[in-house]
Amino acid sequence: PPSDVMKNEPDTDFDLPQNQEWVRNIFAKWKKSSSDTPEIIPLQIGAETIVCEKRHKYMDRCQNDEVCICEMSQAGTEQVKRIIDIAEKDPAGWRNTTLEERHGIMFEAANRLGDMRGDLIGSMCAITGKTVVEGDVEVSEGIDYARFYTTTMKKFTALHDVDITSKGTILVISPWNFPCAIPIGGIVAGLAGGNTVILKPATVAAPVAWLFAKAFWDAGVPKEALQVIITDREALKELTTAPAIRHIILTGGTDTAQSIARTNPSTPLSAETGGKNAIILTASGDRDHAIMNIVASAFGNAGQKCSACSLLLVERSVYEDKNFQDKLKDATTSMKVGSVWEAGNIVGPMITNRNDKLLQALTLEPGEFWLVPPKFIDEKQYILAPTVKWGVKPGSYSFRTELFGPMLSVACIDNLQQGIELVNSLDYGLTSGLQSLDENEQKLWKNSIQAGNLYINRGITGAIVNRQPFGGMKLSAFGGGVKAGGPNYCACLVKITDKPESN
Ligand code: ALA
Repeated sequence: PPSDVMKNEPDTDFDLPQNQEWVRNIFAKWKKSSSDTPEIIPLQIGAETIVCEKRHKYMDRCQNDEVCICEMSQAGTEQVKRIIDIAEKDPAGWRNTTLEERHGIMFEAANRLGDMRGDLIGSMCAITGKTVVEGDVEVSEGIDYARFYTTTMKKFTALHDVDITSKGTILVISPWNFPCAIPIGGIVAGLAGGNTVILKPATVAAPVAWLFAKAFWDAGVPKEALQVIITDREALKELTTAPAIRHIILTGGTDTAQSIARTNPSTPLSAETGGKNAIILTASGDRDHAIMNIVASAFGNAGQKCSACSLLLVERSVYEDKNFQDKLKDATTSMKVGSVWEAGNIVGPMITNRNDKLLQALTLEPGEFWLVPPKFIDEKQYILAPTVKWGVKPGSYSFRTELFGPMLSVACIDNLQQGIELVNSLDYGLTSGLQSLDENEQKLWKNSIQAGNLYINRGITGAIVNRQPFGGMKLSAFGGGVKAGGPNYCACLVKITDKPESN
């Protein structure tokens, strides 16, 4: 039976030979060739599935955009209206299930997600260019979410002696950079409270959601209660402005959140919207340990994490030390870069070769130089080797702009206080890191820094469900900064009432 004690799901140990064999099998299944017939993913309208003429095509960018992996049907406005109607009417009665029943279903879904780990990883490799290791961590996180929110709801209702009821229909809009964990988190938070959920995953990564939705349906979530769709632009507006949608959960760009809030100010919006995240390294920091954390945080998933380290502020004595510069350079250039179909590669392709913000940052302003110059390793320029820009000045383009690619900007600071002021001068406030062994510095930093998730002497990505609820402040958050993997994320999606007096 489901336990009330939440244990985090372990990741795969890829050092074990049997797991390396398992990876080879995943690749054999998911690395398609041009002679394979691409799967056609239908549009789901409640329990009905139809194949649309309008479809998005998914190409493997590790194979030069020459191999089609699958196609996914896209909903138009009329279809979206029907989808919303079904979600609102809830014909299968999801909102009448008990929390206990939903808890059992979510734990069953977690087990099924575990069973499909290999396919989820394979689909992420193929569709988004994630490495196996990054994909694996995401599946664990998704499983954690599946177990976390109903467990939390149960504790919450017992502790406060209250009942919860659904708000109605929740719209979850999820990003491409975590195509498995983040949408699962959103849908489970909604479903846990008895809400029906419409998931609109980022179009470029949506087939991953189509795959994991099966785990929820097979576990007992009615297809009418969880609908997964991609839409054209007009239909998306229909979705985000529909009165039947009682709450929108978004992980995406600040501009997307602003636009939804503008067009539909009356629907509550909880959004996590990116970051420009910095690590400060002071003279008291363990430099080798810091470098390991910095490169992992800056270049994991090709720097395409909202939590990624994009800025490194280094106290002058370390900044000017040639030995430190050489070590950072060595650590950066030693990361294996290339196709994710080769298991040893740590940095794979980016989701697009037209990330204009990143491309602009790959030029130098006066005073800047390359510690590790930019180098694309494929003809189509999807794969950029980890790059380090040195001498970045406060307020400059690279200093202040979220780039979402494998480039780290390094700036010099005179002391920790100056570093804190510079971090706090940024528009965003998602993650932040300090590398320092001095307890006074740690105390000053954590009391002063304006960001949602603070990490000391650790990397700044990879928040763990229940242990490090994840969310930001300033431009990184909308709707009060509810935190994924924390209790307020699901509590904001339900109505709470006192239990009726018992006679
Ligand atoms: N939750 C993800 C992380 O912490 C974004 O890296």
